[in-house]
Amino acid sequence: MTKMTVNNRPVEYLLDPETPLLWALRDASNLTGTKYGCGTGDCGACMVMVDGVALRSCLVTIAEAEGRLITTIEGLSRDRSHPVQQALVAEQAIQCGFCTPGIAIAAAALLESNPAPSREDMDAAIPNICRCGVYPRLARAIERAGQAASGAQSIEAAPPPAITPEEAARDVPALRPIDPARPD
Ligand code: FES
Ligand code: FES
Repeated sequence: MTKMTVNNRPVEYLLDPETPLLWALRDASNLTGTKYGCGTGDCGACMVMVDGVALRSCLVTIAEAEGRLITTIEGLSRDRSHPVQQALVAEQAIQCGFCTPGIAIAAAALLESNPAPSREDMDAAIPNICRCGVYPRLARAIERAGQAASGAQSIEAAPPPAITPEEAARDVPALRPIDPARPD
């Protein structure tokens, strides 16, 4: 049994310890926001935060993740309120959206340590591949998210998701708050 914390919930996986974290999150926890792109560490679609660091979950085994704090796109915020999510929408930096969860995780991790990254900082910290080519808008969104996070500007709230966090949690047990009185 491999124990870790996923989106603030304690989780135990009864899986081969060599199972990639990506499969545990998607197939065992049904947290399908984290995407499978290449499976070889090249695209970044599978990025999650491990102890605050954006890592490619296709390359991390659950044994390596044991005892760590994992944050997936579902845990970044439950209602798209994270500045990165708001800025990605505001700058229309999403086309098909397949790369977006991994990019949002990488950008959020970058802004935690560097709220005003240069374009070079972004290139180094966010090597994710976007087949739709949203890179210029992505850079603007990350700059804007950093400014919003520091209070230098506000972003008009993006439209809410088509379903509420409560509706999502009905289908995905991993999204249910541990304490319903204090949604996490
Ligand atoms: S699926 Fe992990 S880097 Fe592409
Ligand atoms: S928005 Fe389509 S791959 Fe990035």
